[in-house]
Parts: sequence; structure tokens; C-alpha cells
Amino acid sequence: MNVLGIDIGGSGIKGAPVDTEAGRLVEERLRVPTPQPSAPGEVAGAVADIVKHFDWTGPVGVTFPGVVVDGVVRSAANVDRSWIGVDAAALFGGASVLNDADAAGVAEMRFGCGREQRGTVLMLTFGTGIGSALFIDGRLVPNTELGHLQLHGKDAEHRASARAREEHELSWETWAERVQEYLEHVEMLFSPALIVIGGGVSKKAAKFLPHITLSTPVEPAMLQNEAGIIGAALAARP
Ligand code: BGC
Repeated sequence: MNVLGIDIGGSGIKGAPVDTEAGRLVEERLRVPTPQPSAPGEVAGAVADIVKHFDWTGPVGVTFPGVVVDGVVRSAANVDRSWIGVDAAALFGGASVLNDADAAGVAEMRFGCGREQRGTVLMLTFGTGIGSALFIDGRLVPNTELGHLQLHGKDAEHRASARAREEHELSWETWAERVQEYLEHVEMLFSPALIVIGGGVSKKAAKFLPHITLSTPVEPAMLQNEAGIIGAALAARP
């Protein structure tokens, strides 16, 4: 069936109707800039615009870049702090709401490189922050927040996110050194069978993955930037 998936990010909000059996977008996606400040009312307005654009009356799934428990937002590292405590599911008119990296991971496990993968799989998304999704034999352990592991006394995402690369004008190679250090730490903690790299940088894997050496296989997400939209839709299937 078709479900509208909407992916809220730090810089853009993207949505498209998704064929949830095939795991692909059925119409061209719409991207609107994330309102600044990214307060709940403004973001809900942008989400409503996307629903209207597609004339959508069916189920809607929405990702959020923070911890989400039973539709309620519990953290907001890269969006306005007034989100904390907001019932996002109610605010978005009864949509299913889940963490952005969890959504991307769910899509990648179902349709991407995590298919049939047993054991521990970690999806790490590098964007405005670093998101994480942990799977054990295909089952999600939600809201893991591994982007906030400390490295050199700092949040890992402040050193190694895609935004950190841009803000500090790091070469791909220098940034890859930071990612390498972060991945080694995560590998030590979880001994995963597979690490999947998602977020916008998954399209540019050729620029940094050759500089990464781990014992764990590391693969770029197959669904690339569409994983969040597809995962949001999967979460909202009735
Ligand atoms: C948030 C996570 C989110 C990640 C990617 C982090 O700062 O705490 O919840 O998944 O950014 O957006």
C-alpha cells in the first residue's frame, strides 16, 4: 500500500508517497527548508504543506531528529529545544512518529544492505548530527543516540558529523580520520556484524570510505537519502 513518508531534518523536510511493499517512492519527493527557528508550530505547518501538496488523506509517517517515545519528543539536539515534551504524533494529526535514524535503519534493513542480515547491525547516519539505529537479528532497539558518545570530552557528532566537516572546512581525508576514530569506538562497544553508513554522505561514499579501515564490514546505505522517507512510511502502515 502507499503511505506518505516525511523526513524532518535539521536543514530540510522531505516527503513523498511510498509504495511500502516495494520500498520505493511513487512520486517525486518534495523538499521544503526546515523553518528557522525550528519550533513545533512552524515545523507542523511545513509538514501540513507537504500533506496538502500530495493531496494526501491516507496514513502518514514522520521522522524526527531526536528521541521519540510513544510519539512524544524527548530530546532535541539539532532542532528548537521547545520540542522537548511535545506530543509530535498528536501535533502531526495522528501520524506515526519515530527517530530519523531509526526510520532510515528500518528501511535499510528491509530493502537495502541490511536485508537477511542476522546478528548486530548498526546504521549510523552522518548529517547535521550523527544518528544511530541498532538492530539485533533484524529487530530495532529504538532511540540509541550513539551520536552523543563522547570522544575527546566532546559529543562525537560535534567532531564527526557531515555538518562538522563543512563547518570546519575539513578535507574528506581529514574528516575520514575523525569518522575512523568514532567507528573504532562504536566497533569496540558493540562488535557488530555490519555497519551501514547513511545520511547525505552515503552518496559520496567513494570520497571517504576508502580511508576507513575496520574489522567490521562498512557499507554505504543503498537507499541513500530516501531511507528516512521510506522508513517513516513503513512505520505508519496500518
Ligand atoms: C539526535 C538524534 C538524531 C541524530 C540525527 C542527534 O543529534 O540526538 O536523535 O537521530 O541527531 O539527526
